[in-house]
Amino acid sequence: MSTTGTVAILPGDGIGPEVIDQAVRVIEHLNQHAGAGLRCERASVGGTAYDQHGHPLPPATLELAKRADAILLGAVGGPKWESLPRELRPERALLSLRSELNLFANLRPAILFPELVAASTLKPEVVSGLDLMIVRELTGGIYFGQPRGIRVEADGTRTGFNTMVYNEHEIRRIAESAFQIARLRNRRLCSVEKANVLEVSELWREIVTHVGRSYPDVQLSHMYVDNASMQLIKAPKQFDVIVTSNLFGDILSDAASMLTGSIGMLPSASLDANQKGMYEPVHGSAPDIAGRNVANPLATILSVAMMLRSTFGKADLALRVEQAVRQALARGYRTGDIATAGEPTIGTREMGDAVIAAL
Ligand code: IPM
Ligand code: MG
Repeated sequence: MSTTGTVAILPGDGIGPEVIDQAVRVIEHLNQHAGAGLRCERASVGGTAYDQHGHPLPPATLELAKRADAILLGAVGGPKWESLPRELRPERALLSLRSELNLFANLRPAILFPELVAASTLKPEVVSGLDLMIVRELTGGIYFGQPRGIRVEADGTRTGFNTMVYNEHEIRRIAESAFQIARLRNRRLCSVEKANVLEVSELWREIVTHVGRSYPDVQLSHMYVDNASMQLIKAPKQFDVIVTSNLFGDILSDAASMLTGSIGMLPSASLDANQKGMYEPVHGSAPDIAGRNVANPLATILSVAMMLRSTFGKADLALRVEQAVRQALARGYRTGDIATAGEPTIGTREMGDAVIAAL
């Protein structure tokens, strides 16, 4: 078997290792039966890495992540590590990977599988057929802006501060990514900011509008973030692609994920300028259910599909994985998070079995 590329496997914390195990089984199946040619190398990250090596992103893990063609990450974080100093917390590993590898474009699709319409808390007519993509800027904005900190004033009062900052170059490149993605979909792009209040958003709107002139085939609109959050709940199907900044994207993508009723179903990709990417389920580490074989592995398996398509250019294999997931759902297999009252449920491993059987 010829090698297509190397995948860094970073299971992380909580349910991370369990869901990653099932995704790795899918990769191994594709290696054996479809010549996928993906070499998997493991390393530790997050709280687990802190426990083992004293740092959430040990040098060997960062080295592997840089060397690999793609990264598949489970989840990081948990109550056990919440009282650590900020720079040693598990989440820090995620932020460092994003910025060290220049993974500026975060793609978060929210798709409602027809089999799961009943799992949404919204009315079926509002969400059925939902298929939207949030493109979140991931290496700039208030998450990384300087200055930041907590200072003590002369009178002893403490003041916390962060800076929301974007330069033209950062706005232009995320806008280009979003327009290109919109082109492959329904050619509608909504740029979300807060230009009525923030100068950084004013510049954002100006640059996105300018980039839009090179994409006359894509219909561009602008929306303030408060209205966008309302519209997402009221009429989510009006959106095709949303492009927004780091903080707004963090918030809106959680809201969008819940439209589908099943955060356990949603994959994500964080890409650099050369389609190298880090792929992860959008759900967290869910420490309350870790180690019990009840977590839903489908978001992680669907992240493998995104990886096959975006980094390795294997759209046919990506589609096979996605179809296998749909088939498992169509055959009635449900983990607890996506089951409606009365439906029988299966475990993490058994859901992995169901997808592999469908493959
Ligand atoms: C996410 C998460 C992270 C973020 C946390 C864990 C740092 O919420 O990927 O959306 O805020 O970006
Ligand atoms: Mg988030």
